[in-house]
Amino acid sequence: MTVVAIDGPAGAGKSSVARAVAAELGFTYLDSGAMYRAVALAALRAGVGPAQVAETVSIEVGERVLLDGRDVTAEIRSPEVSEAASVAASLPAVRAAMVVQQRRLLGHGHWVAEGRDIGTVVAPEAEVKVFLTASPEARAKRRADELGIDPTTVLAEQAIRDQRDSEREHSPLRAAGDAVSVDTTDLSFDEVVARVVALVNARR
Ligand code: C5P
Repeated sequence: MTVVAIDGPAGAGKSSVARAVAAELGFTYLDSGAMYRAVALAALRAGVGPAQVAETVSIEVGERVLLDGRDVTAEIRSPEVSEAASVAASLPAVRAAMVVQQRRLLGHGHWVAEGRDIGTVVAPEAEVKVFLTASPEARAKRRADELGIDPTTVLAEQAIRDQRDSEREHSPLRAAGDAVSVDTTDLSFDEVVARVVALVNARR
């Protein structure tokens, strides 16, 4: 079993980098944020609090994200679900339920797992830990380009989510003591991927 943990704030490039690193190494990619998003969507749909559904919903993450067997891959990326996911992720009951599922997955095989607390809480024993950062403006621009929306709006919403992620009481976003920080602001995508792959190869 090998775990490469990639944590960092929204828009730092975690998803695309983790996906590319996984493909290059032949590892499986785990998008832990998609799980929080799916819980948030389930709660919105049911009109209940996220803690009420966290333990009972069935979430499958892979090429597609399935919520109780139905494909929600696109729907979980909406700004409404992004905001709800960040709120859901501040609840200890929701985090506990997700961490159990994530540890179960990471227990077998070789993984590149991406999120906020992979290196600190989910897999503190991960062989390689990377903390990906970028300036708030660069992060907002990437998200805005991805979604085809206005960067100023993204920047404002991102600041609120950043603050909630970093200041929440349970598993706040922070780099593990033994994580390697990579600032992606002025690096090309290929350079970031190469750097992470090199870190993994250096550990093998
Ligand atoms: O990474 P992504 O933006 O898809 O994550 C959605 C939300 O889930 C984030 O705003 C964050 O609050 C939360 N999250 C988390 N811990 C993780 C992954 C995501 O708290 N490991």
